[in-house]
Amino acid sequence: MSKAKFITFEGVDGAGKSTHLNWFAETLRQRGHDVLVTREPGGTPLGEQLREILLNQPMSIGTEALLMFAARLEHIEQVIKPALHAGKWVISDRFSDASFAYQGGGRGLDWGKLSQLEQWVHGDLQPDLTLFFDVPVEVARQRLANNVSLDRFEQEQADFFERVRAGYHRRVQENPRRYAVIDAAQTLCKVKHQLEEVVSLF
Ligand code: TYD
Repeated sequence: MSKAKFITFEGVDGAGKSTHLNWFAETLRQRGHDVLVTREPGGTPLGEQLREILLNQPMSIGTEALLMFAARLEHIEQVIKPALHAGKWVISDRFSDASFAYQGGGRGLDWGKLSQLEQWVHGDLQPDLTLFFDVPVEVARQRLANNVSLDRFEQEQADFFERVRAGYHRRVQENPRRYAVIDAAQTLCKVKHQLEEVVSLF
């Protein structure tokens, strides 16, 4: 049996990643892998409390980044590393790429500071693969328009999400081998075909 893998899902709000994540996990299970699905911010009792604060309470940009990484450190130590060591595959709905995209790209926090936090919190652990659901911002916003309640990030304007998307593109350019870029503007069916190609690698 191959080594357990750490896979993350990323994209701007409304890209549709969450819709496909459960199908992806189920398909891996059918292929005989033990799979744990988790999310950020969150994934632990403390992390879920931090999520509640992060998604609802105004705060300075630095505080936002530090709390994201604090929740992440807890998540890595309590959940991700133990699962991988036990041979479980871990699929996380968002990870550090989101901090670079949202706090770095979206909010304008210094990229170098985020790199330092990344190095400190998980210098020894990177996802084996990141599925980046890429979609034009206006398409993502149309999808979000049906949501009844929007959190602090989802309430941001289009220019914020353009910068978030650019932040993701920067991350992909910095390390292209880690990413599978999914064209998420396509129909659900066509996006699924793209995921089937990724899953077939495992
Ligand atoms: P999201 O993953 O989109 O959950 P849901 O599908 O339930 O809305 O929500 C998490 C939000 O947190 C999202 O808007 C992006 C933001 N976020 C950051 O800004 N930085 C981070 O490091 C992470 C993990 C998330």
